Amino acid sequence: MKIGLLGCGNVGSAFIKLLIDNRESIKERCGEDLELAAVVVRDLDRERPEWVDPALLTTDARSVVLAPDIDLIVEVIGDVTASKELIEAALQASKSVVTANKALLAESYFELEDLAETVGKDIFFEAAVAGGIPLIRSLRVSLVGERLSRVTGIVNGTTNFILTRMYEENLSFSAALKLAQELGYVEADPRADLEGFDAAAKAAILASIAFGRKVRFNDVQCEGIVHVRESDVNFARRHGFVVKLLAQCERIVVRSEDDEFSVRVFPALLPETHPLAAVRDAFNAVFVEGEAVGELMFYGRGAGGLPTASAVMGDVIDAAQNLRFGSTERRTRTKDARIVDYARLTSQFYVSVEVVDEPGVLASVAEIFGANEVSISSMEQIGLADEARLVFLTHPTTEGSIARTLEGLRRLRTVKEIGHSMRVVTEG
Ligand SMILES: NC(=O)c1ccc[n+]([C@@H]2O[C@H](COP(=O)([O-])OP(=O)(O)OC[C@H]3O[C@@H](n4cnc5c(N)ncnc54)[C@H](OP(=O)(O)O)[C@@H]3O)[C@@H](O)[C@H]2O)c1
Repeated sequence: MKIGLLGCGNVGSAFIKLLIDNRESIKERCGEDLELAAVVVRDLDRERPEWVDPALLTTDARSVVLAPDIDLIVEVIGDVTASKELIEAALQASKSVVTANKALLAESYFELEDLAETVGKDIFFEAAVAGGIPLIRSLRVSLVGERLSRVTGIVNGTTNFILTRMYEENLSFSAALKLAQELGYVEADPRADLEGFDAAAKAAILASIAFGRKVRFNDVQCEGIVHVRESDVNFARRHGFVVKLLAQCERIVVRSEDDEFSVRVFPALLPETHPLAAVRDAFNAVFVEGEAVGELMFYGRGAGGLPTASAVMGDVIDAAQNLRFGSTERRTRTKDARIVDYARLTSQFYVSVEVVDEPGVLASVAEIFGANEVSISSMEQIGLADEARLVFLTHPTTEGSIARTLEGLRRLRTVKEIGHSMRVVTEG
């Protein structure tokens, strides 16, 4: 079976290494002799690891995806526009495709799946969510008979690393970001990670597979970690919480109608005892809850060349076996997810407010909470010269009520700044 590899960066070069090291054992265990026919790159002069055969390198991607002797295309270039065109061309030329490109899938997953179905070939993407963790196939195959209620994950290693360092070493956000950059955990443009878009792309894919409904990137309510401050993390630590960026996909049962779904990415206060609280540094984990199966936890390396290449290899072998037996993955038509009105959802909230330290301030702040029917569970006052910070934990309240409360607080003369407000996740 001949493979055309698009991309020879972190993942592509690790994939070549796995293929060289494991070719014989793959042949013995799966009956597939996987041969690398060509490797597409942008720059032929760039230095490559010694195991990459220079004779296989080319910049002519189209001729690789159209080559009649190539059966399977592995796309690990990342560039969304180029990869979409190449994957479409490969499928139209009757080749199966394996990709790790979550940004592309978040935009074009359903379109590409439809095309794969039309041409009778596979498109697999295990590595696109949570890198080396075998999650997609578990949801798509092992758990397909399960009515899943919730999938909650830490699916972005960069932000988890930053939040872990803020929590464990008392670092500010910018110091933790700098450390992550020095260790090579941060992309040249860090916005997709820090603003939650990378996690949102993965949440859309996860929700679509977990619930068997079409969820698109624009359906995801997304908030990143750029506003999380040292004082928020310190408060969390003092009160038995950790701060984590969560991707949370939930089924909301609406009586006598089709279920609704909520798909959100947000930084949250999580009790130290929550299974996801122990997920440190660049690790990923996904907590799955189903009616029959109960609770499941998937944990491992969500990124890195070799772990990601391992997931790509699993897909390649699956696709190669399907090609050999003339079969494809079985697909069922899915309908659009009904996305909940997010303002109706309820959570407990953490709200931090900087106020002028003068008599009557607390009463006026508390009055705004009361006027919007937000009940306060606890309050802490921290004095700072002529200012004070008031930190509230609320009882469960709707997103709409908390938004109106923050709006009301913003209008108070005595409120200098509204800090970050975060959801407090207690279940799971
Ligand atoms: N790295 C991870 O841990 C990880 C984890 C999960 C998923 N992924 C996904 O895997 C994919 C690859 O990631 P990576 O970290 O391996 O990226 P990378 O290190 O930047 O490598 C990209 C490779 O693609 C080539 N390339 C880029 N644009 C191209 C184009 N238009 N035409 C031809 N070749 C092109 C580059 O060529 P040159 O070498 O000549 O520049 C390079 O070899 C991305 O979709 C990423 O989101 C990565």
